[in-house]
Amino acid sequence: MRNKSISKIAKTSLLSALLFSGISWANNSETNEPKPNPILTINGFSFSDLNRNGKLDKYEDYRLSTQDRIQDLINQMTDEEKASMLIGIGMPGFDWAKMQFNTGKDTAKVPGSAGGTTAISRLGIPSIIVSDGPAGLRIKPIREEDSNTYYATAFPVGTALASTWNEALINSVGKAMGNEVREYGVDVLLGPGMNIHRNPLCGRNFEYYSEDPLLTGKIAAAMVNGIQSNGVGTSVKHFAANNQERNRMGVNAHVSERALREIYLRGFEITVKEAQPWTVMSSYNFLNGAYTSARKDLLTTVLRDEWGFKGLVMTDWFGGYNGFGAIRDKDAVSDVVKQLTAGNDLLMPGLPAQKKAIVTNIKNGTLSKEDININLTRVLELVMRSPAMSNYEYSNKPNLKENAQVTRDAAAEGVVLLKNEGNVLPFTSKSAPLAVFGITSYDFISGGTGSGDVNEAYSISLIDGLTNSGFSIDAELEGLYNPFMKAQKEIETKRREKEGLLATPKRLQELEVSSEIVQQKAKSSELALITIGRNAGEGDDRKVDEDFNLAQDEVNLINTVSTAFHAQGKKVVVVLNIGGVIETASWKDKVDAILLPWQPGQEGGNSVADVFSGKVTPSGKLTMTFPVKYEDAAATKNWIGTPAENPTDVTYEEGVYVGYRYFNTFNVKPSYEFGYGLSYTTFDVSAIKLSSTTFTNKIEVTVTVKNTGKVAGKEVVQLYLSSPAKNIDKPSSELKAFAKTNLLQAGESQTLTLTLNPKDLASFITNKNAWIAEAGSYKVAVGTSSFDIKQTAQFSLAKELVVEKTHSSFAADVKFEDLKH
Ligand code: BGC
Repeated sequence: MRNKSISKIAKTSLLSALLFSGISWANNSETNEPKPNPILTINGFSFSDLNRNGKLDKYEDYRLSTQDRIQDLINQMTDEEKASMLIGIGMPGFDWAKMQFNTGKDTAKVPGSAGGTTAISRLGIPSIIVSDGPAGLRIKPIREEDSNTYYATAFPVGTALASTWNEALINSVGKAMGNEVREYGVDVLLGPGMNIHRNPLCGRNFEYYSEDPLLTGKIAAAMVNGIQSNGVGTSVKHFAANNQERNRMGVNAHVSERALREIYLRGFEITVKEAQPWTVMSSYNFLNGAYTSARKDLLTTVLRDEWGFKGLVMTDWFGGYNGFGAIRDKDAVSDVVKQLTAGNDLLMPGLPAQKKAIVTNIKNGTLSKEDININLTRVLELVMRSPAMSNYEYSNKPNLKENAQVTRDAAAEGVVLLKNEGNVLPFTSKSAPLAVFGITSYDFISGGTGSGDVNEAYSISLIDGLTNSGFSIDAELEGLYNPFMKAQKEIETKRREKEGLLATPKRLQELEVSSEIVQQKAKSSELALITIGRNAGEGDDRKVDEDFNLAQDEVNLINTVSTAFHAQGKKVVVVLNIGGVIETASWKDKVDAILLPWQPGQEGGNSVADVFSGKVTPSGKLTMTFPVKYEDAAATKNWIGTPAENPTDVTYEEGVYVGYRYFNTFNVKPSYEFGYGLSYTTFDVSAIKLSSTTFTNKIEVTVTVKNTGKVAGKEVVQLYLSSPAKNIDKPSSELKAFAKTNLLQAGESQTLTLTLNPKDLASFITNKNAWIAEAGSYKVAVGTSSFDIKQTAQFSLAKELVVEKTHSSFAADVKFEDLKH
């Protein structure tokens, strides 16, 4: 399908000037409408209606600057047109009563997309299309009266991608994702998701990267750069402090300015500075008493004035409405004036009542011409740079085949090897079948639900992957599991259909395999595999019982299988096909190896088989802490806010002590620490060198990594910095840089450089409105996890350094103290 709409202002003046020589005039033969005016064609691009008024309007004159043309466009718009540009095109066909899309025809240009901007055809402004999401493009794969299919690649979920700690690889995943966005006719991908894993139970953690803001920011920047290299946009989301799903549209997150700036905003800051995403999506929640979509300090002072963001801010879908109930009232309106003047330029998906309110406020002067000029300029800048504007002839044929390989490789690199007792892995013997247990082995979970889902053409289960790699699978077990899995899935699908769009997934019950059968298998097969599966998605959070903690049927399965197999001298491997952290401490000693591929995308089974068989040496590292008990993490103390069933308030009392910053500073022993992950080979990290032992404006730290084992592999080196912390309360150490080696052959070495910049030394000091680095001695610790430190060094900072002055922002709306060490 081609986009037939023709734009007059399709080119920037520079490009147009280059194309100028190819100008030609043609008569309009496309329609029967009387069209006296000619079409201007420049090297194949057509500009219709050029002389509509018998004159060349400024906005039509591609030789002028984009800014001049945008201003002329705005000058020509009626108030109604202006209002319609500031809201999206809505969600046609959505049944509010049922919270479901009607089964009727999806009239969107790209069916299944999440929305778009309004077209004003009389001014040649096309609609641009936005679509989810973080694990790949989410569109409808099947269209009515159309025999073609529109499947997209399900890439690994955010957490799995981040576990690679490999920015170059993430960039290539972004390139692949962006290719699908562009070739399916979408202009902006609604991702990546980059909220912080504040608590293991957040239902959307799978979409997000880490509990650490540096890692989050770097991975997101690599992703945004990759996607946007296709000439399409991204929307980094959800800005900010959207760290839980329950009552996400109405919960007021109380967060100190320090915790915000150091933890919850820092990742966004890095991404904005390193990648300039085309758009940012504000979050649903209140932050210190006001909706994020209506906070000028967040969306203008910090995001634009301090960080230099140049793009557009859109709301999350219905952001600024307190719950979906509020939207069902067709006259309900979000505070459009506050949102627009705060710097939230586009209200998505856009409702008629919002348009009406904008028009009224323009007419009565509450929204000044100057105010909305700013928002409109940003919307039009976004439209001008979009593929829709240049009438890009998308093919509907993205590189699905190549991208399947990209996702397979990325997922394999994201696998974290948690345990490998007696080097049970890699497993190469093919002399007897593998005994594969766990319902999820037969129905692998490629990704989570909700807007983070992707409609992929196929999904490779663990069974398929192992089979593809030449392993044989015990047929009797397969015969028992397959029908059971199908029946369980059907029950679950029906339940979710009944409960509607935002029904979150439930764990599938485990099959109770009799101990006789398990004992037989322990004799007949060489090895047991057990997959533990978890799924979640937007709209609700996970639970402690039978979700964070294993359910009794899962405990029984692990017990029965490991007892029987160990009695025969055989090994047991657990595969964790999960989207968020689960409890591991109580059962990890019962099994021999644990592979954590997260939710690894459509090629998941192949990716796991690649690691299982040793084709790929695991090099993934945890991007968050695995606690011994759920209650161990600091943020669990006030999770999920009050009242728990529908929290209106949640206080981030743990302050900056999120994740490992808490565990490692307060000496709470985790089950697996941040940054942890094993390999099939061994590495030596040596020869730490600092470019200087006194800090002036930067220090470069170099280390040499040598593969001292027998097989090729990659290693991640992580730089943790400890500050003097004399006057500033600080975590014992914080990740300030990381790097991954190339694939090192046995015996091969590589020297890596890690850079420390002034801000890496600093903390945010609220009463001084500044990032300040204390004078004194700083310790650099370079390791392969936050515990496994291989090299240390010191440098000093002679005088206190005021790294950056900021504006006073995010004033508290309730009194509370951040946790201190
Ligand atoms: C989600 C966003 C998503 C949007 C559009 C919202 O419910 O929170 O992440 O981009 O829907 O689908």
